Amino acid sequence: MPRNIIDVTDLTVEEIDQLISTAEDILANPAKYQDACAHKQLATLFFEPSTRTRLSFESAMLALGGSVLGFSEASSSSTSKGETVGDTVHTVSCYADIIAMRHPKEGAPFAAAQFSEVPIINAGDGGHNHPTQTLTDLLTIHREKGRLDGFTIGFCGDLKFGRTVHSLVNALSRYENVKFVLISPAELKLPRYVKEEALKKRGISYKQTESLEAVMPDLDILYMTRVQRERFFNEEDYLRLKDSYILTPEKLETAKADLSILHPLPRVNEISVAVDKDPRAAYWKQVKNGKFIRMALILKLLDIHV
Ligand code: CP
Repeated sequence: MPRNIIDVTDLTVEEIDQLISTAEDILANPAKYQDACAHKQLATLFFEPSTRTRLSFESAMLALGGSVLGFSEASSSSTSKGETVGDTVHTVSCYADIIAMRHPKEGAPFAAAQFSEVPIINAGDGGHNHPTQTLTDLLTIHREKGRLDGFTIGFCGDLKFGRTVHSLVNALSRYENVKFVLISPAELKLPRYVKEEALKKRGISYKQTESLEAVMPDLDILYMTRVQRERFFNEEDYLRLKDSYILTPEKLETAKADLSILHPLPRVNEISVAVDKDPRAAYWKQVKNGKFIRMALILKLLDIHV
């Protein structure tokens, strides 16, 4: 059976630490890895739009000396003729050595993996999970803070539909002494199942609030998120909630000097571009890190040792 990464907990904490260490080595010695995946092929099957995830996967495989194939929208695949996702993935697994798949339906990569002969990586499934964004976030936090434990992190915005939040809460709940502050409008709170599985089951206390200003001085990391228009059932609710939080330089005046600001991107309006110049803004570094942690993950799943 191939090794799949559907959920971030498919990796142990030790394996995540090892991936971070490999990503750091790739960053320091890129030439060492440039032919590691020669003659290997990555397929990117994206049934939902993406800029960072798809292109960082492709860039990662190319930097490892491999090649890429795939599609960036469902309409250019035979699913538009009625083929099942299972048959599509079975087909692609005959051509590629590893598959990264994004789909708007929660659980689709898990279901598809039952039909694959090669490793499947969940590149985002609906409003559920996004494990490789979480690996990107963990590498970024490690590079910014030098550790993955003993800090207070605030998640702000759409915690209901934000799949990157669900995966990162799950991942960080396995590290020691991480304090969680959940900042959202009442309608966009973190789903109960994430709280139960990741926090309550592990006995981790958390704080919920609607006010970013009230908790700003307490935070070591601020994880901003976009309100996920595509997951709303009606436009009115989206329009009412979309600007609930807009981070500006003024709002950062009460923040710690060593705060790290993360955002999985894309952003719409929730971080003013003026914040980009603030040395605490880490989200463009986060974008870069995504390539290197995905290189490390591809190597691991293909069992290639450099
Ligand atoms: N962070 C992220 O998943 O971005 P894309 O939707 O552009 O891939």
